[in-house]
Amino acid sequence: MPRIAVAGAGAIGRRHVAHIADHPDLTLAAIIDPDPAAAKLAQAPWFADIESADIDADGLVIATPTQFHEPTFNVAADRGWHALIEKPIASDVMGSTRMIERAATAGVHILTGHHRRFHPRVTALKAALPRIGQPVLANVMWSVQKPADYFDVAWRQGPEGAPVRMNVSHELDLLQFLFGEVTDVAGLGANPVRRADRVESGGVVLRFESGLVATIAFADCAASPWGFEHGTGENPNIARTGETSMMITGSGGALAFPSLTLFEGARDWADAPRAETLHVGDGTPLIRQLEHFARIIQGDEQPLNTGASGRRTLELTLEVERLTTPLLPVGNTPGFGAEPQ
Ligand SMILES: NC(=O)c1ccc[n+]([C@@H]2O[C@H](COP(=O)([O-])OP(=O)(O)OC[C@H]3O[C@@H](n4cnc5c(N)ncnc54)[C@H](O)[C@@H]3O)[C@@H](O)[C@H]2O)c1
Repeated sequence: MPRIAVAGAGAIGRRHVAHIADHPDLTLAAIIDPDPAAAKLAQAPWFADIESADIDADGLVIATPTQFHEPTFNVAADRGWHALIEKPIASDVMGSTRMIERAATAGVHILTGHHRRFHPRVTALKAALPRIGQPVLANVMWSVQKPADYFDVAWRQGPEGAPVRMNVSHELDLLQFLFGEVTDVAGLGANPVRRADRVESGGVVLRFESGLVATIAFADCAASPWGFEHGTGENPNIARTGETSMMITGSGGALAFPSLTLFEGARDWADAPRAETLHVGDGTPLIRQLEHFARIIQGDEQPLNTGASGRRTLELTLEVERLTTPLLPVGNTPGFGAEPQ
C-alpha cells in the first residue's frame, strides 16, 4: 500500500489526513505540523517539521502555507518522495520552475492539487463538451461570503489569502482543463466591503487558443447561492445549493454546471432547445485525487495535473491578481476587523 505523509494539517491538510487514514488502500505514514494538536488527528507518527520526519514513505501531501511548499518539497524530493502539492504550487513562478527542475533531477512526480479536476461532475462535463459543437462562451460565477474568523489566520489577510490566489486559481485551472490554453487576459477588481489592502471582488475575461471567451465574476465578500462549491456541495464547510455556477455555450448547444443540463436541438433563435439532464456517478474529488496520486506512486499513471500545468495556472493567477488588485487612496484602508461599509 502506498505510504503517504501529510505536511501541514490545517484547513485542507486535515481533510487529506482523514481521507488517507480512512482509505482501505492507503497508509498514513506521518503527520508533519509544528502544532502538537495535529498529532491527535489520526493514528500516525507526528513530527513538528519535515527534517525530523525519519520515516519510510512513498509520497507526501504538501498542505503547508504556500510559502513553505518549496522548502518542504525540496526535502521530499531529496528523499525520493513523490509530491501532491496543494495549489498554488508556489508563491511565485520562479519557485515553481525550481521545483519542477528539482523533481526532474530527483526522478519524482509533482501532482498539483487542483482537485476539481477529479470531481465526477467535471469528468462528465468534459466528456459532454463535444455535444455542444464548437465551444464559444463560458460564464463562471463565484460569489461567497467568507466568515470573519477565516481571516483570523494572519497569512490569509494578505494577497496569499485573497480570492484570486485562493479561489479564482481553481476557476482558471478548471477552465484550462476544459478548454486548453489561454492566450489573453483582462480584468478589473475592487474591495467594496472590507476595504482591506487587497482585491476582494472582480471580473476576469479570458480568450483561449480555440477562440472561446470565458468570463469569471468573483467575490469573497458577497453571499450568494452561486459558486462551484455551493453548487456541487464539494466542500463540507460550504453550504450546498445545487445552483448553477457555470454556463457554457457552443455552436450546437449549451451546458449548465453542476446540474449537467444539456440544451440542444435549436437550429437558431427561433427554436427553444431541448433540455436533458445528464447522469453522473458519485465520488469525493479529494479522495479521487489521492487515489490518482497512489497510482502515480505505483507507476500506473502520469499526473493529470503536472507541475508545469500548476505553474501555468500560477502564472495566470498572478496576472489576474495584477490586473484586479485595486489601487487604494491612502487613508481608505480600514482593513480586516473593520465594520463592513
Ligand atoms: N485545494 C483546495 O481547495 C485548497 C483549500 C484551502 C487551502 N489550499 C492550499 O493549501 C495550503 C494550506 O492552506 P490552509 O488553508 O489549509 O492553511 P492553514 O493555515 O489552515 O493550515 C496550514 C497548516 O500548516 C502548518 N504549517 C505551517 N508551517 C509548516 C511547515 N513548515 N511544515 C509543516 N506544517 C506547517 C500550520 O501549523 C497549519 O496547521 C495553501 O497553499 C492553500 O492555498 C487549497
